[in-house]
Amino acid sequence: MKNRLAKIFYSLAAVGAAIFLISGCGSKKTGAVDTIKDKGTLVVGTSADYAPFEFPIVKDGKKEIVGYDMMVAQKIADDMGVKLKIVNTEFPSLISELKNKKIDLIMAGMVSTPERRKVIAFSKPYYKVYNVVLVQKKDAKNFPTKASLAGKQIGVQQSTTQEAIARKQLKSSKLVTESQLTSLTTELKEGKLSGVVCEKAIADNYLATYPDKYAVAKVKLVTPEENKNIDIGIRKDDKDLKKRIDKVLTKLEKSGQLDKMFKKAQKIQAENK
Ligand code: ARG
Repeated sequence: MKNRLAKIFYSLAAVGAAIFLISGCGSKKTGAVDTIKDKGTLVVGTSADYAPFEFPIVKDGKKEIVGYDMMVAQKIADDMGVKLKIVNTEFPSLISELKNKKIDLIMAGMVSTPERRKVIAFSKPYYKVYNVVLVQKKDAKNFPTKASLAGKQIGVQQSTTQEAIARKQLKSSKLVTESQLTSLTTELKEGKLSGVVCEKAIADNYLATYPDKYAVAKVKLVTPEENKNIDIGIRKDDKDLKKRIDKVLTKLEKSGQLDKMFKKAQKIQAENK
């Protein structure tokens, strides 16, 4: 009897030890970089309504999301030796998608505000922005001051720094929010809005693509320092991934490739409008 119990005990112990060994000793936690390498794919979330950062084009009959962010994303994927997958969603839901692990990174022309820093981490900056008011070409000279926009319908993309800036600085205007920036710029073109608050880099793109439709108003908005840096959104726990990404960004910046990629994205947009 004793012997039989001992036998059972030893075989259970052996099974336990085997499980322990197979599962990699149970203790060592793999980092985010290793997890991505194991998957073989880096999943980047974006909101493709933001040329030249991210926008859709049709290539060989297939819709594809391209832009500055996607070029930088490809470099990060290449650095880890994995494939890149772009997930397109609306800007206001990106942070929860990241937290719920539906995506590995946010690359959506996203500014690293103090509020966002409370919930996620960010890479070092890879582009600088400031805000302007995009208007119809015919109104180019009509809005020299904030007061001149009083009572006017002004569009801002929901949950963006533009919304926060407009709520503070254009208090006497009527703000209209949409989850996609492209809906607002279309409404502006159709005369349903008097202006759209957006970053200069985005406004420039509309001016270059539709020179007879849009202009930048004379009115000056203040862009707070903390709303100027476009960074990559990363989960707070993924410290190893942040380190790796910052290294890639430093390299791309020093070699002048960031600048080149931005210009290339503008060119692709102009050719595919
Ligand atoms: N830079 C602004 C922000 O971080 C707007 C970004 C909007 N991005 C987009 N892909 N639509 O709030």
